[in-house]
Amino acid sequence: MAESEGERMWFFTGIYLLLTLGAFFTLVTAIAAIFFVITPHVGKMLHARLLRTVMYAPHSYFANTETGTTLNRFSSDMMMLDRQLPFALFQVFQSVFRLLSQGVLLCVVQPLITATLPFTFLVVYVIQKVYLATSRQLRFLDLEARALVNASFLETLEGVATIRAFGWQPQFIRDNVKKLDLSLRPAYMLMCIQRWLDLVLDLMIPGLAIGTIGLAIALKGTTTGGQIGIALNVVLQVNGLLLRLVQSWTRLETSLGALSRLRAFERDVLPEDKEGESQTPPPAWPTQGALEFDNMSASYNPPNLALDHINISIHPGTKVGVVGRTGSGKSTLLLTLLRLVEMEGQGTLRIDGLDLRVLSRNAIRSRIVTVPQDPMLVMTETVRENLDITGAGHVSDEDMSRVLERVHLWEVLVGRIATAEAARNAAAEVDAAMGLRVAPAEVQAGSSGGEGNGTISPDESTPLFNTKKEGNDGGEGDYKEDDEDEEVVAAETPLDLPMRSLPLSQGQQQLFSLARAILMRPSRGKVVLLDEATSNVDGETDKLMQRLVREEFRDHTVITVAHRLDTIMDSDLVMVLEAGRLIEAGTPEDLRGNQGGAFRALIHGKR
Ligand SMILES: Nc1ncnc2c1ncn2[C@@H]1O[C@H](COP(=O)(O)OP(=O)(O)OP(=O)(O)O)[C@@H](O)[C@H]1O
Ligand SMILES: [Mg+2]
Repeated sequence: MAESEGERMWFFTGIYLLLTLGAFFTLVTAIAAIFFVITPHVGKMLHARLLRTVMYAPHSYFANTETGTTLNRFSSDMMMLDRQLPFALFQVFQSVFRLLSQGVLLCVVQPLITATLPFTFLVVYVIQKVYLATSRQLRFLDLEARALVNASFLETLEGVATIRAFGWQPQFIRDNVKKLDLSLRPAYMLMCIQRWLDLVLDLMIPGLAIGTIGLAIALKGTTTGGQIGIALNVVLQVNGLLLRLVQSWTRLETSLGALSRLRAFERDVLPEDKEGESQTPPPAWPTQGALEFDNMSASYNPPNLALDHINISIHPGTKVGVVGRTGSGKSTLLLTLLRLVEMEGQGTLRIDGLDLRVLSRNAIRSRIVTVPQDPMLVMTETVRENLDITGAGHVSDEDMSRVLERVHLWEVLVGRIATAEAARNAAAEVDAAMGLRVAPAEVQAGSSGGEGNGTISPDESTPLFNTKKEGNDGGEGDYKEDDEDEEVVAAETPLDLPMRSLPLSQGQQQLFSLARAILMRPSRGKVVLLDEATSNVDGETDKLMQRLVREEFRDHTVITVAHRLDTIMDSDLVMVLEAGRLIEAGTPEDLRGNQGGAFRALIHGKR
């Protein structure tokens, strides 16, 4: 008997152990599957889809949507999907299965308690219904409030120079703090309702425990002490599990909200490419640069036309100047050529005989040379990478330096290296004089002298404190500056200079933009667009840029939008726009002589 009891004990212990091991491995597998396989895969895929949607979004989307909204999709929504959703999913699964197993256990040891189950489920259902609805709304409020704080923070950051200049700091600080306070309200309320849920579920459990004990007392003799113990234990555990289930279910629901927002975003932000815009032009297109506007209209928001029935034919190689008052549609004309603004009506726009409406927009943009007003420099990259925007490495270093020399930027780069070297040498001298850092020569001698001779090895030659720091409170900034100088000195050629180490002025950036365009020339067609490309340079540099454009793009059709009339005075053709209509076109001389004409009025400042 004793032996058989012992055997039984081993038997049950074995089963228990197996069950525990089984549970452990299931848990590990579930964690691995959810966190290492499903989450990264889904996250990557959704991010790629979101990115594609934004990248192919039409120009109107960027013009009409706040940056904060797009940022929210990429930040809080993606974060929810990456961080919250997998945890919530895992917890829901876990709670459901554990509740099921506990329920089965309870039914086995105290079958009568099952009679209370429908009642319990009803209560939990009602509770979660109320809780879920409230919590969902609070989450939305929370998200909205956060977006508000983000947007306000970004705006403040962008306009910090203006804010300082006008001394608006206290106002903006107050405003930001107020928005932060507001944004915390829903978060606080969320915590409150979570505590409410805790309390209600906690109150439910004594009821269940009393029920279990009451049954045991009423039906004395049907249940053993051990069974009642297990039942009570289970009842107490069920409380925690229910709580977790309801909470994780809510979290799952809100994170699925992020998913549905992403889906709606993808559905609403349609790609700019329309049906039938898929043709790829021949490889070298446009080889001539003939432009034909035939009743061409364009609009940002139909039916208001930003360009109104433009009719003109531009011969290959013509240098065109576009003028007109602010808001007359000059930029729109260039944007339409790049297919960034939608064409309206039946009119056509052809380049070298090909209707732009049937071509893929990407193809068009990759064939036209553009010099924008804002060159969009990537600060984290080097000068070389910023010059060769295709990143294909087709542009040789010689070409780059030649072009930089032509736009007079080469000397700026070389000068930057020289100043960094001078600054480093000066700092080393000061350190050596103060005995704080070993001068380079001493370092060399010290390191060759072997260890233990009291001299500091090169790796340890950092100064005891930064001598540049005096009279300056931005500690970290100083070290960054030091690093930057090191990077500048380490650059083999000026092309290796990191862009961020080059504080280029607006005008210099435009020169850089021109250099980039010149380097694009071999790989692109015969149309060049310049929109206010010389707006920030002095008259002298403007002339230089115009000369370079003439020389470098001799056979190209060049369309220049300019505020300064001198810029386009030597064009072959001037187009005068007014309220989206082409009101005059001709050579500058003809138009100048045209009494009562719009161009003449512009020259004499009458328009
Ligand atoms: N993103 C936009 N959304 C809606 N309408 C726009 C948008 N951009 C410009 N417009 C409208 O299109 C018309 C032409 O604007 P456009 O920018 O082409 O003028 P512009 O001649 O380049 O002016 P500027 O000399 O100031 O650069 C204007 O009436 C303007 O209100
Ligand atoms: Mg403009």
